[in-house]
Amino acid sequence: MTAILLNDFKLQWNELNEQILTAVSRVGESGYLILGEEVRNFEECLAEFWGIKYSIGCANGLDAIEIALRSLQLKPGDKVLTTPLSAFATTLAILRAGGTPVFCDTDRSGLVDLHQVEEILETDSQIKFFVPVHLFGHALDLRELQRLKEVYQLKIVEDCAQSIGSSSFGRATGTVGQVAATSFYPTKNLGCYGDGGALLTNDVEIKRIARSLRDYGQTEKYHHSLLGLNSRLDEVQAAILRNALLPKLGAWTQRRREIAEMYRNQISHPEISFVEAPQGSDSCWHLFPIRVLSIRNSLREWLASKKISAAIHYPVIIPDQPVFTAVGTSPKNEIKTILTNARDLAQQELSLPIHPFLNDGEVVRVIEACNSWRR
Ligand SMILES: Cc1ncc(COP(=O)(O)O)c(C=O)c1O
Repeated sequence: MTAILLNDFKLQWNELNEQILTAVSRVGESGYLILGEEVRNFEECLAEFWGIKYSIGCANGLDAIEIALRSLQLKPGDKVLTTPLSAFATTLAILRAGGTPVFCDTDRSGLVDLHQVEEILETDSQIKFFVPVHLFGHALDLRELQRLKEVYQLKIVEDCAQSIGSSSFGRATGTVGQVAATSFYPTKNLGCYGDGGALLTNDVEIKRIARSLRDYGQTEKYHHSLLGLNSRLDEVQAAILRNALLPKLGAWTQRRREIAEMYRNQISHPEISFVEAPQGSDSCWHLFPIRVLSIRNSLREWLASKKISAAIHYPVIIPDQPVFTAVGTSPKNEIKTILTNARDLAQQELSLPIHPFLNDGEVVRVIEACNSWRR
């Protein structure tokens, strides 16, 4: 029995090694390793793919969010509304940019609850920044996000690390906020061969600041007008992304959607339910989250006994992390609502394998394993 992994990088390599090696050779032969043609070309292709004017490559998704917030002129201590259920990086980026995270509960979808967001905005007029996350690849309701942006004059960075290729009512995630931030961490739908990230914007001024911030705050070589970072996407990653990975993204997303459809039609265990995406979402299915209504670990162990990997996203919500609960040393933050839904999901969620190299037989194996689970 072969193992079914959450991500299978060996199968990806088998499919793409020629294109990847060609990309690496091209960089080697060019003699140019940092911020050259490859990064520029990839940025253009990514912007075109996404339908946003400018893309700025950087070192990872964490930096992309920090650079985005700083490009939007976040000042030290500014409050930034966000979700408690995400990769820790979402909140870490807010803190590193100097902001104060303000947590609002999710709804049952695991995505930040836009109704509660509005209630908070009504009562706290100091909040002008918002970092929502399209978690699991499921798109937040972008019509509602657009409305909130206009009514409350929000500066929004959409965390699209998990949502490249997703849309809401036909509109791509990342196109409502002033900035979209994404990650090319290997497990992501567009994952590179190491670390990488990007931010995208239609605003030429944000582009200018972000380009400078990723490169020590330089405006021209050895002239520094901002305190920037070293957060450059390198030529090799950019070449691999453009040559080998981005051209496959459409087909890979399609395959993820097919697998999701099979799971949704055929998993029918009374103690397993689906984590439903918001209305209007066409998910890129970065993850396939299920809700386990009894003992989650029992299902995880059952799957493991059948050589099927599963993971939890995320076992501890961000404000409950030890760094936040430590008395006296916790970074400043605010919790505006009772975080019931986020905590419930942290207790109940399990992600099934959904990478695009799974064949139908393997998908059926996962379905049968779920359906035959006895605790
Ligand atoms: C929702 C979300 N935001 C931000 C990040 C940070 O990306 P990176 O790991 O490239 O820093 C990740 C990836 O882990 C993520 O899933």
